[in-house]
Amino acid sequence: MLDWSEPKTNPAIALNPTPGEAPAADATGLGEIERGGARVSVDDKRMINARADVNQLLPLKYRWAWEKYLSGCNNHWMPTEVSMQADIALWKSRDGLTDDERRMIKRNLGFFAASESLVANNIVLAIYRHLTNPECRQYLLRQAFEEAIHTHTFQYIVESLSLDEGELFNMYREVPSITDKAAWALKHTQNLDNPDFRTGTPDADQAFLRDLVAFYVIFEGMWFYTGFAQILSLGRRNKMVGIAEQYQYILRDESIHLNFGIDVINQIKLENPHLWTSAFQDEVRGMIAEAAELESAYGRDTMPRGFLGLNAALCEQYMHFIANRRCAQLGLAPVFAEAENPFPWMSEAMDLKKEKNFFETRVIEYQNGGALSWD
Ligand SMILES: [Fe+2]
Ligand SMILES: [Fe+2]
Repeated sequence: MLDWSEPKTNPAIALNPTPGEAPAADATGLGEIERGGARVSVDDKRMINARADVNQLLPLKYRWAWEKYLSGCNNHWMPTEVSMQADIALWKSRDGLTDDERRMIKRNLGFFAASESLVANNIVLAIYRHLTNPECRQYLLRQAFEEAIHTHTFQYIVESLSLDEGELFNMYREVPSITDKAAWALKHTQNLDNPDFRTGTPDADQAFLRDLVAFYVIFEGMWFYTGFAQILSLGRRNKMVGIAEQYQYILRDESIHLNFGIDVINQIKLENPHLWTSAFQDEVRGMIAEAAELESAYGRDTMPRGFLGLNAALCEQYMHFIANRRCAQLGLAPVFAEAENPFPWMSEAMDLKKEKNFFETRVIEYQNGGALSWD
């Protein structure tokens, strides 16, 4: 029988201060309830190491986080609402796709299938615990559901095209260029997963920032983008239009995930300027440069020969362009020489409202009486 009078020791309780100090924050929200505790003042809310109760959404401090939560809800979609008939016919046809195109499609799907899970794990098992702001947590919960929808998309594609599920979902352990990216990002989650890990020291807070950079800026903000470009480029040639439409919805979700991550990092910088040292800035730029290298290897691996409008060299150029953009969003100097965007049509693909008939397939909107706005 459960004994409610003896609450289990919670790791957060270890944060309690010595007598005489201001009450320490319960970072997780799982600590003992402070009976009769004072009401939350908006000034006490912080991104990390907050003193305010993390279980009280209101009063809002970071309206940008709440707005992103609302945008995510407005953009709701399900993969099963996209028709796969044309894709099935093309995939089963003998001459509809070249061997190179099939290789790229399979590896691209394999990369995303496991990556969605890695990103979801990072949100739920690492970031959520240490981000001490309820409106940001509200967005993380929405994002976590969107990652589930994205994983569902790959299940639906595998089922529709009768692909080998083991080949696709295990690809991140079998194809070295995919394993290398996953392993690179995973080590940042692992650092935070240590049960003794707590934010609150410059070293720990920087480790948390590193994880945010690795997942939001690099995984979702760089690597996903070449993946989208590969499939959307096929869609523009009227190939695999169902998958391309699903990727367009995923891209719409991911662009909010990316922007949320950038806002979180920039807000943490603002509140903790001591963390954003020039050495740390160099380190982040180094991470971005290293990630672009890993992506180039993946590009060569997925497209050893290239095809109409798309090849490994163009993807590398696109990655340099994107990397420099991410640096600018974080207030960092660019890591590559100025690169032109080789896929200007990607920005059209990101605007579903303007390009509703981009692939001339059905677009479902979940907007409830409001205009589609998500950027
Ligand atoms: Fe995702
Ligand atoms: Fe995401």
